[in-house]
Amino acid sequence: MDAYVATFERQFDDKPAIKSAYLYSDEPGTGKTTTAAGLINAWLRAHYVGAARLGRQPLRKPAEFFDLNEYQTAYNLAAMAGDDVKLQALTKRLNEAARVPFLVLDDVGIRSASEAFRGLVHAVINARLAAGRPTVYTSNIEMGDLADVYDARLADRIRDNCQDLPFVGKSKRGLRKK
Ligand SMILES: Nc1ncnc2c1ncn2[C@@H]1O[C@H](COP(=O)(O)OP(=O)(O)O)[C@@H](O)[C@H]1O
Ligand SMILES: [Mg+2]
Repeated sequence: MDAYVATFERQFDDKPAIKSAYLYSDEPGTGKTTTAAGLINAWLRAHYVGAARLGRQPLRKPAEFFDLNEYQTAYNLAAMAGDDVKLQALTKRLNEAARVPFLVLDDVGIRSASEAFRGLVHAVINARLAAGRPTVYTSNIEMGDLADVYDARLADRIRDNCQDLPFVGKSKRGLRKK
């Protein structure tokens, strides 16, 4: 993680070539989301420090954390209710995520995703890959099995220039309360 975070300093370079990262574990509660939150904080820090050093105005939104589970629930509810205004707003929000310099897609391995929803996620990932913008994915599906959720082409593209970071061990959920 430290080696990965060190590359965030390159974000102001002409061609930063910062890798994406895939945080995977079969079991839940191994710290993927916690780590992704740490990574986005590190990105923000590097952004503000770098901007100050260059005498530049920092971006209003240098990074975004996107909970795909929560998003999918909101999307499905709006779709079921036939709420087009809400659907459009949700679609717009996800489309905007394509343009943010650093994005966390938390729980990208949603097997139950509808065709329409998968299409939206697909478009965001594709746009980010095409523009060379780094994305941190968390998932309970191995990178190699992503083709079952999305199509093989997108699965291949996610694997491009992406660090595979498997998480092991047992769930740490509830440890804090003890
Ligand atoms: N290394 C760790 N040691 C102790 N608790 C941890 C650790 N990593 C995560 N946790 C805690 O375990 C719980 C689950 O972590 P989370 O990041 O949500 O897991 P995942 O996203 O892999 O399902 C959270 O309450 C978190 O605060
Ligand atoms: Mg999680």
